[in-house]
Amino acid sequence: MKILVTGGAGYIGSHTCVALLEHGWDVVAVDNLLNSSRESIKRVERITGGRIHFYQIDILNKPALANIFRQHKIDAVIHFAGLKAVGESVEIPFQYYHNNITGTLILLDVMKENNVRHLVFSSSATVYGDPDRLPIQEDSRLCATNPYGRTKLFIEEILKDIHSSDNSWNFALLRYFNPVGAHETGQIGEDPLGPPNNLLPYIAQVAVGRMPHLNIFGNDYDTPDGTGIRDYIHVVDLADGHLKALSKIFTNPGIAVYNLGSGRGHSVMEMLHAFEKACEKKIPFKIAPRRPGDVASCYADPSKAEKELGWKALKSIDDMCKDTWNWQRINPNGYK
Ligand code: NAD
Ligand code: WQD
Repeated sequence: MKILVTGGAGYIGSHTCVALLEHGWDVVAVDNLLNSSRESIKRVERITGGRIHFYQIDILNKPALANIFRQHKIDAVIHFAGLKAVGESVEIPFQYYHNNITGTLILLDVMKENNVRHLVFSSSATVYGDPDRLPIQEDSRLCATNPYGRTKLFIEEILKDIHSSDNSWNFALLRYFNPVGAHETGQIGEDPLGPPNNLLPYIAQVAVGRMPHLNIFGNDYDTPDGTGIRDYIHVVDLADGHLKALSKIFTNPGIAVYNLGSGRGHSVMEMLHAFEKACEKKIPFKIAPRRPGDVASCYADPSKAEKELGWKALKSIDDMCKDTWNWQRINPNGYK
């Protein structure tokens, strides 16, 4: 099988490339390197001893994308390429809608022209907004609360409409909860541009001395310790979920939607303590006001993925913190 991975140099894309190569599949990766580095591709090749056909292109560039489908006989696509920062999406919504939605439409158009009808799409738990019930099941109410989330929700709707009009398409929509961690070798991991938006990369940068302290956004939520609760999922487990989703769409299921989470909620305080254990240091923190748009608690019911894909998150928060720390310690400045 030959799999095209868009956004293959990024955080989740690079870990999924490792899993694909280790599974023995051919990997073609495209990325414009806007939020990533060519170095991650080299390191994936080093970890696996495999080879990636890598192209630095923008998926908005239809002729360049079409050229890749001419050069390679692609069997399926895993589509990670997209902009993903919630706060930034509020400031530059046009870029988010254009990049994420137009980019996906161009990809689908090129796939159709080349008769490639299998796609795994990176959706997000952000499509549940403030969840109407916990744990969140796939049929929970959908209500994105920011432009980034709406791009995910609209793309899901687009894929559903395309499938309704032509059932030769097969789509897996994977709603990730909070991806964290890094490959156990410490060679690839999350390398945010500028100050991290997300909790674990921020804690890791405090631990390595790049940031003075963590701001905890609110300790007055209706949760046992007052801090926000999320469902953290190790990126290596997540990568494995993509392999399982690919196997599923090759059975031609039409549209399949899955939560990829651990099913367990952990508070900010719990994550901080788990990280302190992993790095054997105290992490200085301050209690700050709540971050606008944050919800108190969000965690998955991942039982549909277990039942239909045979997939389950295996790694604990201690594994997540240990591997994040290992990556950050070995690469204090990321790939630079
Ligand atoms: P990432 O930024 O590390 O990876 C995305 C990659 O896509 C980057 O390498 C970027 O350079 C590339 N890219 C962006 N626009 C492109 C374009 N027009 N053409 C070509 N390449 C382009 O992010 P990630 O964390 O690996 O996320 C991957 C996907 O998963 C994204 O779609 C994201 O929205 C989704 N997702 C991420 C999270 C998370 O917390 N990391 C959670 C849920 C969903
Ligand atoms: C986790 C918890 C914060 C940073 C985001 C996106 C979501 C998805 C995953 C893409 C919350 C607290 C955080 C900090 C803190 N991405 N926190 N100090 O907000 O659950 O989800 O990433 O699809 O769409 O919204 O993740 O890691 O930012 O926050 O106290 O410096 O940590 O308030 O309770 P979030 P996060």
